[in-house]
Amino acid sequence: MKKFRRILYGGDYNPNQWPREIWDEDIRLFRKAGINSATINVFSWAKIQPSEHEYYFDELDEIVEMLSREKFDIVMGTSTAAMPAWMYKKYPEIARTDYKGRRHKFGQRHNSCPNSLVYQKFAKRLVEKLAERYGSNEHVTCWHVNNEYSGDCYCENCEKAFRVWLKDKYKTIEALNKAWNLEFWGHTIYDWDEIVLPNELSEGLENDKTAFAGISIDYRRFNSDSLLNNFKMERDAIRKYDPDTLITTNLMGTYKNLDYFKWAKEMDIVSWDNYPSYDTPWSMVAMNHDLMRGLKGQPFMLMEQTPSQQNWQPYNSLKKPGLMRAQSYQTVAHGADTIQFFQLRRSVGACEKFHGAVIEHVGTENTRVFREVAELGEELHNLGDQLLGADNPAQVGIIFDWDNYWALEYTSGPNKDLKYVDQIHQYYRYFYEKNIPVDMIPVDGDFSKYKVVVAPVLYMIKDGMQEALENYVENGGVLVTGFMSGLVDQSDNVHLGGYPGPLRKLAGIWVEEIDALAPEQSNNIRFTDGMEYDCHLLCDIIHLEGAESLADYSSNFYANSPAVTKNSFGQGAVYYVGTQPEQKALEKILDQVTVYSNVKPLIDIETKLEIVRRTVSDKNYYFILNLTNETLSIPQVFADKVDILTGNKLTSQTTFAPYDVALLCVDSL
Ligand code: GLA
Ligand code: ZN
Repeated sequence: MKKFRRILYGGDYNPNQWPREIWDEDIRLFRKAGINSATINVFSWAKIQPSEHEYYFDELDEIVEMLSREKFDIVMGTSTAAMPAWMYKKYPEIARTDYKGRRHKFGQRHNSCPNSLVYQKFAKRLVEKLAERYGSNEHVTCWHVNNEYSGDCYCENCEKAFRVWLKDKYKTIEALNKAWNLEFWGHTIYDWDEIVLPNELSEGLENDKTAFAGISIDYRRFNSDSLLNNFKMERDAIRKYDPDTLITTNLMGTYKNLDYFKWAKEMDIVSWDNYPSYDTPWSMVAMNHDLMRGLKGQPFMLMEQTPSQQNWQPYNSLKKPGLMRAQSYQTVAHGADTIQFFQLRRSVGACEKFHGAVIEHVGTENTRVFREVAELGEELHNLGDQLLGADNPAQVGIIFDWDNYWALEYTSGPNKDLKYVDQIHQYYRYFYEKNIPVDMIPVDGDFSKYKVVVAPVLYMIKDGMQEALENYVENGGVLVTGFMSGLVDQSDNVHLGGYPGPLRKLAGIWVEEIDALAPEQSNNIRFTDGMEYDCHLLCDIIHLEGAESLADYSSNFYANSPAVTKNSFGQGAVYYVGTQPEQKALEKILDQVTVYSNVKPLIDIETKLEIVRRTVSDKNYYFILNLTNETLSIPQVFADKVDILTGNKLTSQTTFAPYDVALLCVDSL
């Protein structure tokens, strides 16, 4: 497989949307900005295939020639995310049917039914032609399949395909009825063709809720697989002609609809689009990066970020001077081998005309944004290839699992405010703030690599997970879990015999009841040292079965019963957090976990600077990032080291203003 020979620096480039005269000017400006890569042909299907039997590649040929001449790394899109108008006119069944049951017309993008054979036929044909034509071009460094696969479809085609998928999974109607617990409300099915898709016309409810989570979870699995099959089809079409260029598609962090761990297995490299809002915590951005790295346990591509501003959020703040640079280094710190923008030239019309770009509407290099892009381009050029492929070693793994994401958020009760990503993030944030590196890992990951595995809201325990977790803890691992864990199996049916089901023995507790607290309600937890804190959301009523209590509730009828517990199991231990403690209390619990498991931060002292380490062939790279609004002093371990981005030597007096960054390369600290 081909590898990147440098950090790709560029982004989405749509010269096909512009007159030919402007292209030379683009190239002049790209050179000036240190841009070495362009992602092309992401939305050009209509141009390449103006009718069913006509293909036209002259313009794309010219674009590819121009970029090849400039020795750009070309990221080649396949254009299949938006179909041409003629295709809809002739084959209207290609358009999706939505959750409300409405059949769509031509318009938007990501609007093709993944199970439409007509769509598949046209997409495959197009991609084969592209691969045959450009696959041997040495400048084509990566294939970018489709774009941000997303959404779902509830058309009759999909319904039929769902039945086939289910038949393959369950084999018999009896097994299906049992898995979905269809005896409830007498929804028993007698024949496969009685199965309907779970949208608002059937078992689905408003706001993505459902009467039968078992059906809806299977539908999500099916939909993720359907879109993944589209990806695999394009990938295989490329591979017929191009044996060794990396193939990716751009993902979207914690995007709910697609099981990205499953997707990543089919991708050569993960790429993703990072669009935080003005108020997204940096810990959340970091978690997204770590999740994208965790999908394959390998460095990833940043396929898109805006150099300045977005258009589609309610409030599209500018990135303040220095922020784009700092954000880019945060991305590299967490494992990116590329920094790419959406987009290189700002579009003249339609909904993205107010989306930031390297070349703004004024059309010149005399803009703040351009200057910042050019400065970063030069720095990355000087950095060269030394960081490519570097690792991010971690002693803590946090489990992220799409089945659990779906299942938890489908639950009817006990508390509607339970949000999967927020639950995971509050744990991530603790480690982030302590500068303790984290890997985001799948439920079937290799736990033995970690001193601590954190598994918040591990609601669904699928086959094999109990054994894997017991084995891990037995051998000295430390597991942190808590409320809404161990409750259901892979079909969303409860593990009978007492909560937390398969985790009961491991955690040494029995949860008899689960109380829900409304936003205006709270309880308190009292630690053994007498310190008391608020708790919210849910309160598990816990009986100890071997575990010890670290904190008890202080009010309600379950006052003095355990809220947070620790159980020794084999050579390891399990911490169980039975309620939503306020942040300080969660920190107190996790402080105990890190002490017990001997997990160390990257540097000994506390700082609000973000410190991240990557390692490659015995070299340690430390990224020091100030993503706060305050000026921060340097941790003394970094004094006298050289910032390889600027060549400046840091001193004990060095301070980091907001968005300041330094990168050190040291043998050890
Ligand atoms: C997404 C898409 C791009 C563009 C940007 C705008 O990430 O992939 O085509 O629409 O959003 O932010
Ligand atoms: Zn469909």
